[in-house]
Amino acid sequence: MEDFRNILTEEKDGVLYLTVNREDKMNALNFATLDELREIFEEVVDNKGIKAVIITGSGEKAFVAGADIQEISELNEVNARKFAENGQEIFAMIENCHKPVIAVTNGYTLGGGCELAMACHIRIATANAKFGQPEVNLGIIPGYGGTQRLTILVGRGKANELMMTGDMIGADEALKLNLVNYVLPTKIDAMDKAEEIIAKIMSKAPLAIGMIVDCVNAAFLSDENGFQTEANSFARCVKSGDYVEGTSAFLEKRKPIFKGE
Ligand code: COA
Repeated sequence: MEDFRNILTEEKDGVLYLTVNREDKMNALNFATLDELREIFEEVVDNKGIKAVIITGSGEKAFVAGADIQEISELNEVNARKFAENGQEIFAMIENCHKPVIAVTNGYTLGGGCELAMACHIRIATANAKFGQPEVNLGIIPGYGGTQRLTILVGRGKANELMMTGDMIGADEALKLNLVNYVLPTKIDAMDKAEEIIAKIMSKAPLAIGMIVDCVNAAFLSDENGFQTEANSFARCVKSGDYVEGTSAFLEKRKPIFKGE
């Protein structure tokens, strides 16, 4: 993977580590950083060597403290819609990615940062993480899918409260609300947990993992019958070599070796 200006990338044992690297701006997502995210996820989809992704923020204070408010302050009615659609499209690429994507939210996870984390498949927070959708303080609303994903994750009442008040909540509260899967004391612990989960997922059949992503996402699409998606995806799994391997290995009392085919 090539070098990027605002996102550090490192590949290790099939895992792509992404670090949003604008520490002096609390890792705020400017247009350039979003463009880089798009380019990276296009590569993630195509690159067979990348099996999983972990996203975090540079330093100890912030995962991502939102979209870049300097840039937001210069929007007009015409480009504001494009601004939102562009972010939504990139975050949908993450949500629909057939390889597991885990967010390690270290510190402020606000606005577009919370939206980025919510687009990932699993979220692991550090104890100092703070979550919120404070857009209302700027006279706007979440635009990168936050109104939808927050409602799905925490339910209508809490989503309304969080977005209408702009309040921040701590990691423990986020855990209670199902906004995050785990809270760990430090960034190192959170990374270890992310790696442990990724290792487990990477030992399973990759095609089945991709089908799970599609089916879970289908549960929230009003124009899709998720049960039909499930039946179709189930049938696709049965066409794969990994299905033959998985079932044979069980019957032969050995560990399966999945090839993603
Ligand atoms: N966009 C652009 N710059 C941001 C930013 C954002 N979303 N969030 C923080 N920054 C910048 C600050 O302007 C400041 O830059 P400066 O040093 O050039 O003045 C720097 O990051 C450090 O932030 P600062 O506010 O001084 O740190 P803090 O510890 O006092 O507060 C926050 C941290 C996260 C609580 C505060 O920065 C904040 O509320 N940020 C905006 C959050 C937000 O509204 N996000 C949604 C945007 S749609």
